[in-house]
Amino acid sequence: MTIRSDQTLEPVRFAYWVPNVSGGLVVSRIPQRTSWDAGYNRKLAQIAEEAGFDYALTQIRFTAGYGAEYQHESVAFSQDLLAHTNKLKVIAAILPGPWNPTLAAKQIATISQLSEGRIAVNIVSGWFAGEFRAIGEPWLDHDERYRRSEEFIRALRGIWTQDNFTFRGDFYRYTNYTLKPKPADPQPEIFQGGSSRAARDMAARVSDWYFTNGATPVELRKQVDDIRAKSVEFGNRPKIGVNAFVIARDTEEEARAVLDDIIAQADPEAVKAFGHEAKNAGKASPEGEGNWAKSTFEDLVQYNDGFRTNLIGTPDQIAERIVALKDAGADLILLAFLHFQEEVAYFGREILPRVRALEAAREAAPAAAAA
Ligand SMILES: Cc1cc2nc3c(=O)[nH]c(=O)nc-3n(C[C@H](O)[C@H](O)[C@H](O)COP(=O)(O)O)c2cc1C
Repeated sequence: MTIRSDQTLEPVRFAYWVPNVSGGLVVSRIPQRTSWDAGYNRKLAQIAEEAGFDYALTQIRFTAGYGAEYQHESVAFSQDLLAHTNKLKVIAAILPGPWNPTLAAKQIATISQLSEGRIAVNIVSGWFAGEFRAIGEPWLDHDERYRRSEEFIRALRGIWTQDNFTFRGDFYRYTNYTLKPKPADPQPEIFQGGSSRAARDMAARVSDWYFTNGATPVELRKQVDDIRAKSVEFGNRPKIGVNAFVIARDTEEEARAVLDDIIAQADPEAVKAFGHEAKNAGKASPEGEGNWAKSTFEDLVQYNDGFRTNLIGTPDQIAERIVALKDAGADLILLAFLHFQEEVAYFGREILPRVRALEAAREAAPAAAAA
């Protein structure tokens, strides 16, 4: 393994997907002890901050689809989690179209004040044409969706940091607009989700964080190199988060058996329909490199290709693979589980200390680790 000169020595950060949508994070009928309700999620957030997680990521969906029959709204839900925790940062998903930057800036500034700066946002660009149709929102072409998201982010940042903000975009316009109060310190971090060329370009130009679907270290490195090369010109250095579905058991065989079970109990029609919708969303992206472009049936059983990252095995194996992802450029690992409360606690107890021990060993002897 090689430690690269651009690699951070910061400890790798951890986030978990907030199950604010029903059905958990897999398109499978496998029994899950995960609930989308408020009480479950409040307790989960407390367990997660105790376990050493830095962030919780909410999801936004306006309609049902592929198992997600009920969906709590992301900004209101984030505020509730913040009100029931002390340290955890909560990332609220925001979808341009239904949201405009004016409302998002105002909501998040207020939540930032209420939570002493623990709110962040994840600007998502939309993958579900049926959802847009259902709520009467125009479904723009892939790269147009990103052009809008980029303007959204520029407007959001402008409103949060400037008085008399003036902006002339194709989608949003502001004239001498002054938001008061502005967010508390630290400024809300701006994440984005997506892996296409348009997503990487946007990250390079305007985002604080780039979230991508599950990936092997080699696949991740390719994306990181592309973003790093492009971002220099803009004086930006987006941090990188990668999705993974964790199955930790005493032996690798046991962990693999759980994965097999999740896939065996997947609803083939729902998985295929989800795959069709997700792949179609990227059709207008000329390069065909976006999320799900190459996803197999098995990959699609986890909404964001989380099995591909292969955090499936013993705590030692998982800790080593997390460090390999860090070597490939990951600053943050975004995690999903089958039974969230129990498995987040287990992760904090059994895996996180192993990751920290590996990081400490490498920091103490980087030359040996690089050999
Ligand atoms: C970590 C992550 C979280 C996401 N969360 C949401 C979400 O809550 N709601 C949503 O509609 N899309 C969500 N997306 C989808 C993306 O915004 C985007 O539409 C999708 O990844 C396709 O983009 P691409 O063509 O650039 O790969 C998420 C994507 C990632 C990687």
